[in-house]
Amino acid sequence: MSQFEKRVIAAERSNPRFSFKIKSLCYSIKIKNCKFQIRINMDIDIIRKDFSILQKEGSSVYLDSAATSLTPEPVLKAMDEYYRTYRANIHRGLYREAEKASVEYEATRRVIANFIGADSDEIIFTAGATGSSNMLMYAFELTDTFSEGDEVVTTIMEHNAVLLPLQAFAKRKKLNLRYIELGECFELDYDQAEKCITEKTKLVALTLASNVLGTINDVTRVARRAHEVGALVLVDATAAVGHVPVDVKQLDADFLFFSGHKMCGPTGVGVLYGKKSELAKLTPSYLGGGIIEEVTRTDYVLGEQPWSFEAGTPNIAGVIGLKKAVEYLETIGVENIQTHCHETLAYTQQELKKIEGVKIFSSDPVHNIGIVSFTLATVHPHDMAEILGKNGVAVRAGHHCAVPLHTELCIPATTRASIYLYTTKDDVDALIESVKEAQRIFAQA
Ligand SMILES: Cc1ncc(COP(=O)(O)O)c(C=O)c1O
Repeated sequence: MSQFEKRVIAAERSNPRFSFKIKSLCYSIKIKNCKFQIRINMDIDIIRKDFSILQKEGSSVYLDSAATSLTPEPVLKAMDEYYRTYRANIHRGLYREAEKASVEYEATRRVIANFIGADSDEIIFTAGATGSSNMLMYAFELTDTFSEGDEVVTTIMEHNAVLLPLQAFAKRKKLNLRYIELGECFELDYDQAEKCITEKTKLVALTLASNVLGTINDVTRVARRAHEVGALVLVDATAAVGHVPVDVKQLDADFLFFSGHKMCGPTGVGVLYGKKSELAKLTPSYLGGGIIEEVTRTDYVLGEQPWSFEAGTPNIAGVIGLKKAVEYLETIGVENIQTHCHETLAYTQQELKKIEGVKIFSSDPVHNIGIVSFTLATVHPHDMAEILGKNGVAVRAGHHCAVPLHTELCIPATTRASIYLYTTKDDVDALIESVKEAQRIFAQA
């Protein structure tokens, strides 16, 4: 149980005249027959207690959640419980532990489906976003949807996890790869996107949120155009899930993927969503145990989807941890997390802008998941990250697996600070002080 849940239960007990029903961070209060809601701010101090790494003496000010998020206690506990009390393989054994493992694993599929507005049989567990992307591109290759000369469209802000498998797929199938470019304020150029997607386009692959700029893209708008010309829409939601509400139907995504570790879940587990009608057209490219109906000496018949896409023993503990991560985020409320990240990002950008020579490469806070990438005229991003690191401020410097984007911005690297549900104003102040210190050190050099 999280600290937040404990506090609500304690409030209920101490106040029997009121009936508290927790719905994210809104208390629904019933007095006599009237029902109304009071919205309270997220209590970051309480939330931070769920992250033991933040309680550790001398732990860094963590501003690197875009690389990987921290893991709350309930997630650690759920995985620990699996290993300690019912460790067994899934979908095989007929004993108690194996049945419990299978039930928990399949329950995650329902929880994830519900979280992103999908059906359970549209959810495939993978090793992460990169695993999902590669698996999908190979599966595309085995279909006859794509022929030489067809076009695939992506954006200049994609992560290597999309870009590399897509480039390799395009090369192998002799497809033309086209790019949606940047607009003026670190968002996509939607007018150019409309023109870029043509009758020849068979696939549009785009990120829901940039892991460098933080920009939340208008995927629905791009998907509308893509579907007008009959193209498939693939969404990389890795930076967005757990940071902003994500609904596959509202986005009108045919495929969408993300990683557990960016949203309070464990590493090495991810999700690939596929619209039922589109999944049915795909041939699984990854074969092995647990996916077949029948095997003879020369051939095999695959079992039902989505299980036919999950060959071999999966990351069972990871999947179980992922379920807890979603439940944890839902208890707090993804909308509340989004608001907190907007507010904290607005403060970060405001304070960074006060430092002479800082250039920000990020969209405005409202259309941003909580990322600010920046440069400081006199300090190389790697030197900046090193000084920040020595001061106990964890950020990332480099191209963040998005080289074409940096080339487009005419910079080799940026320093990136990323915000999540546990980030405080004090964390931001520590960042700002260290950036100023780096500036001072290099002014003397
Ligand atoms: C937007 C985006 N897509 C994909 C990935 C790849 O995720 P993973 O390394 O978990 O496969 C990342 C990771 O940084 C990302 O930020």
